[in-house]
Amino acid sequence: MEFPIHRPRRLRKNEHLRRMVRETRLSVDQLILPLFVVPGEGVDNEVSSMPGVRQLSIDLTVRECAEVRDLGIPAVILFGIPEAKDPEGSEAYSDDGIIPNAVRAIKSEVPEIQVITDVCLCEYTDHGHCGLIVDGDVDNDSTVELLAREALAHARAGADIVAPSDMMDGRVDGIREALDEEGFENLPILAYAAKFASAFYGPFRDAAESTPQFGDRRSYQMDSANGNEALREVEMDLEEGADMVMVKPALAYLDVIWRVKQSFGVPVAAYQVSGEYAMIKAAAANGWLDESRVMMESLLSIRRAGADMILTYFAKDAARALAGG
Ligand code: PBG
Repeated sequence: MEFPIHRPRRLRKNEHLRRMVRETRLSVDQLILPLFVVPGEGVDNEVSSMPGVRQLSIDLTVRECAEVRDLGIPAVILFGIPEAKDPEGSEAYSDDGIIPNAVRAIKSEVPEIQVITDVCLCEYTDHGHCGLIVDGDVDNDSTVELLAREALAHARAGADIVAPSDMMDGRVDGIREALDEEGFENLPILAYAAKFASAFYGPFRDAAESTPQFGDRRSYQMDSANGNEALREVEMDLEEGADMVMVKPALAYLDVIWRVKQSFGVPVAAYQVSGEYAMIKAAAANGWLDESRVMMESLLSIRRAGADMILTYFAKDAARALAGG
């Protein structure tokens, strides 16, 4: 059973043969593009730490969604930057907030696009934390009530999927119950189930203007060292009614993606976060990496680890590359 009988190189001889034995594929069906929506009209601000990513007002977001649809990408996930922030993040759960308005506009102009809304308070609170502050820390249960109201505001506006990213305990349960009470029992929840307290979120906080004004998120987001705990978080969210679960970030947590997929077999999303994107962009801008190849290799590795869906700022570039462009 040894060399020279086995020669794995036989199946690597040419691209046709390699295509035939390729185990994992990336398809445009698996891509989700994150979008940052800001107040105003005709607003288009590039995020300096994320070249190619822009904050767009609702009119331009709708235009972007039409392009996304034309590229064959099935879904976007929306993050909102409100007109004004306050300690309670009140615009987050207002029916007239930036996200409900954006959802209505997208669903009326580009109805085919699946609109996922990020459900969290950090973009809306003046302190930048993901919930209400009591005695210097985020209070869990009162925050869950506000998150349920936020999810409802998104649902009433026509969101197709809600995605809580706050990491409060019991929030999937709270959101599911609120949705069901108002007749949204068929609205799926994509839970950011295993979300780690990661330094890879840095550039996102510029884009979403959501940097915590004191402290950090370690009392609610997970410790990077913990894989078993990630499985328990996923299990709890599924028991509370999550339809799909997310692991975030992606590349530094491929083992977690793998274990979640193997253990539960449910639809798993992975978020290739802002820092993962920014690193590739920065190295490519310096001529140190081949951007397109590294993009495809990292996305494929996330698929190989077991992710069914990938949230990525590269979604449009990847869709073009997959179409042969
Ligand atoms: C909101 C949220 C964050 C991200 C997605 N939703 C930031 C955070 O937790 O600070 C990060 C996404 C990225 O880095 O691309 N809670």
